[in-house]
Amino acid sequence: MGEVLITGGRIVTAVDDYIADILIQDGKIEAIGRELSGDQATIHNATGLLVMPGGVDVHTHMENAQGPAETCDTFASGTKSAAFGGTTTIIDFALQEKGQSPKQVLDHRLASTEHQACVDYGFHLIITDAAPGNLSELPDLINLDGISSFKMFMAYPGMLMVDDAAIFRTMRTVGEHGGIVNLHAENGVVIDTLIQEALARGQTSPKYHALTRPRIMEAEATHRAIRIAELAEIPVYIVHLSSIEALEAVVEARDRGIPAFAETCPHYLFLTIDEYERPGFEAAKFVMTPPLRDHHCQNALWRGLKFDDLQIVSTDHCPFCFNENPHGLRKSKQLGQDDFSKIPNGAPGVEFRIPLLYDGGVTKGKISLNRFVQLVATAPAKMFGLFPTKGTIAVGSDADLVLFDPNKQHMLSATTHHSYVDYSLYEGHLVTGKVEKVFLRGELIVNGEQWLGQEGQGQYQRRSASGTFL
Ligand code: URP
Ligand code: ZN
Ligand code: ZN
Repeated sequence: MGEVLITGGRIVTAVDDYIADILIQDGKIEAIGRELSGDQATIHNATGLLVMPGGVDVHTHMENAQGPAETCDTFASGTKSAAFGGTTTIIDFALQEKGQSPKQVLDHRLASTEHQACVDYGFHLIITDAAPGNLSELPDLINLDGISSFKMFMAYPGMLMVDDAAIFRTMRTVGEHGGIVNLHAENGVVIDTLIQEALARGQTSPKYHALTRPRIMEAEATHRAIRIAELAEIPVYIVHLSSIEALEAVVEARDRGIPAFAETCPHYLFLTIDEYERPGFEAAKFVMTPPLRDHHCQNALWRGLKFDDLQIVSTDHCPFCFNENPHGLRKSKQLGQDDFSKIPNGAPGVEFRIPLLYDGGVTKGKISLNRFVQLVATAPAKMFGLFPTKGTIAVGSDADLVLFDPNKQHMLSATTHHSYVDYSLYEGHLVTGKVEKVFLRGELIVNGEQWLGQEGQGQYQRRSASGTFL
């Protein structure tokens, strides 16, 4: 690959904000300075644009099975959608089912995705079977395969849920080798009881998904996860935190010096429980776990992002079509027409994280521009062992760059997004700020509405054993 020169842009990182040129050579940032020249360089004029590090989304579900359903984005369509949204690295999942070898699960997932990825990628390995033989494979996965994070579920009994002993034993092994464990923190068995009671009363519509997943059961599991991690002496990362009570559990631990971290997602920041009052089956579009909460929680999450009680915004992009879709039958939300507990859990959003957070966070004065970059790129790269290759703009880093027009307005819509999913949580939502150009390791892959990238261009990232914590 030749030279690329990006001139006159406003370079924004988690700490910097200045106007300069960036010279890229062989996919890496070679120099940053004023009036740079490159004899052979392709030049992109970024005057008037923000130049930010490519986004890092550490929670996506492309081609993920969930019971009888499967997310409708292939690894190709989902990573292309990510790219149009300014995200150049994702961390998705490899799911170990009962009895499976974690290493074999990873190898299988790598083989099925490598020719599809449009952006760089890694995997968290989901552990559902913590038998000693399976755990004995984790050190090599961490040290040789670059899988330094593992996810466990405290919800979904009978499917993904593991018990506290399994969490503790996994944490101890992962911790000894410098990894981190991510937790889906909800008390699955209590919630399941509430679900069965609701169904027995004939309460089958989508809104009962929200009413059977109380905030304090998220808080209880968050607290429990952190305490188990404390005993195992390992950092812990709570995924998709949605409620003020769960946030309080994280804050309490952090105040005691415990390395507890958490992410929230755009849907918790921009939508509320009121969405479940939509007529008919429409509310099923908003069935994700945990469910949407109220304004009180939303305000607490924004405050948490501002003051670093929450460290990361990721999407939990988990797209199930509302109707069966034209790209192949992938079992849509319609599975739960007569029973909310059968609605596949999850919602799309990988393409809208950066514009939404810029518009709703930066332009509305809730977070600074530097904090915005930190939340969508730098902190996730640091947390999960990708920094400084990813997540910043620095000499020697990968030239994953987004040229962002801070003044351009555009409408978020399923009619124009690039995911295969047939709806958007934000249909018709007007935002200020638009991704104009995206570079992946120096290659222009998005130019306005034009796709210039290729499937298979994304590279698997062997992540370092311990994230550099924030
Ligand atoms: O509803 C959600 N979040 N679906 C994706 C699976 C998970 O729990 O992360
Ligand atoms: Zn989850
Ligand atoms: Zn998820």
